[in-house]
Amino acid sequence: MKIIGAAVLTLLVLLPARWQLGMTATNDPKTQKVVDASGNLRVPADYRTAYQFLGSWAVAADQSQGSKEIHAVYASPGASAAYRKNGRFADGSVLVKEVFEATSGAMTTGTVSHAQNLKGWFVLVKDSKNSHPGNKLWGNGWGWSWFDAANPSKTTSTDFKADCLPCHEPARATDWIYVQGYPALKQ
Ligand code: HEC
Repeated sequence: MKIIGAAVLTLLVLLPARWQLGMTATNDPKTQKVVDASGNLRVPADYRTAYQFLGSWAVAADQSQGSKEIHAVYASPGASAAYRKNGRFADGSVLVKEVFEATSGAMTTGTVSHAQNLKGWFVLVKDSKNSHPGNKLWGNGWGWSWFDAANPSKTTSTDFKADCLPCHEPARATDWIYVQGYPALKQ
């Protein structure tokens, strides 16, 4: 009895650990819709319904009042809960940033801007294990890609070190993510 009990206990302790070991950003079923075996990303088709809205950014117009762009950021299911718990993004977490051209005008609330034309998406997939070392769109703990609105399944990005990293340098200390814009990540 004692031996069986010990065996069951060992299994219970070991099983989850083994699952975790085998789990990479690529074979996590949650990210299957986002990453293929070679590490090519795509925009998840269901992010507007299945993902959690994290927050938005308004880029001010250069001359006139209002915003010229509005960015809306979404996170894959469970990503923000894990972040609030552990203070970091779990492997396989996906972030999608929509980039909209905005239009502005007088409304009963004041001068107001709203999303008009979708220009495209930025997609990030958390990967602390360096799963695609030969792929220039993976590194620094993430998979990185931009998608034009016309083609959510094929990126036009070629090298995250040139296409993304310089602009994310100010967010280096927070794992390259501008976390200050996302109320859902605060504890
Ligand atoms: C021109 C500078 C610039 C470039 C180039 C850029 N980013 Fe960003 N990115 C930002 C800034 C600033 C924010 C937050 C504020 C905003 O959206 O205006 C942001 C936010 C994001 C977000 C939302 C999560 C976060 O970090 O807050 C994602 C996802 C993202 N970027 C992905 C990418 C990817 C992938 C690339 C390369 C293909 C890229 N970005 C290139 C400046 C840039």
